[in-house]
Amino acid sequence: MGFLAIAHRGASGRAPENTHASFAAALALGAEAIELDCQLSADGELVVIHDETLDRTTDGRGPVGDRTWEELARLDAGAWFDASYAGERIPRLDDVLARVRDRALLNVEIKSARDVGAIEAKLAALVAHADATEWVVFSSFHWDALRTLRATAPWARLGVLCDDDPRRGGLALALELRGEAIIPGRRWIDAGVVAEAHARGLDVWVWTVNEPGEMRRLLALGVDGLFSDWPERLADLARLFEA
Ligand code: G3P
Ligand code: MG
Repeated sequence: MGFLAIAHRGASGRAPENTHASFAAALALGAEAIELDCQLSADGELVVIHDETLDRTTDGRGPVGDRTWEELARLDAGAWFDASYAGERIPRLDDVLARVRDRALLNVEIKSARDVGAIEAKLAALVAHADATEWVVFSSFHWDALRTLRATAPWARLGVLCDDDPRRGGLALALELRGEAIIPGRRWIDAGVVAEAHARGLDVWVWTVNEPGEMRRLLALGVDGLFSDWPERLADLARLFEA
């Protein structure tokens, strides 16, 4: 697979993160992949939102997981970003799958520690039912969730999120789980990490990079994907490195 420009929470620099607006913007900008954050509502719906509380990105208050889907669906998830986005809603994952199908790779991050043990089977069932197994890649900082997903879904495409040097466990876990990528933060990336991952057949995707100088550094190291709130910057630079 070629280099992936991954729209972080959609094109979240220009539209409210994790909404249909930010995903539509990412597709319009030509991002090859979209990342989103997934959590469970109180009644077990798979919903798309980053924080464990509603306060920052909606007009609601308190934990996401304490609210039913009916309650979440009424909240405004756009006005906090800009008045022109008032009326954007917290999406359900099944809706996003329907809109992204055949247009981009989708990286579904299991976000909340509270959901570990409960969300994996639901995610696997939804993605299988949607016939999306080939273009959804699951990831999480909660490595137990990835272990459970692998046990539940032998077909699942997995990336191992690392909040530490990947040589301290992330690389080994990706191999153990037959993952396809390690996904470290940018501060952990140097030529040695990239070489070790590639030698093991693993791709290296890096979060979250918005500054063009840092994009250039990472592209020159040969990383396979970058997450950015501004995926259009990546597309322009990646073309230079391919030329
Ligand atoms: O998956 C990459 C990145 O999204 C991880 O951090 O906090 O933005 O979900 P966060
Ligand atoms: Mg994320």
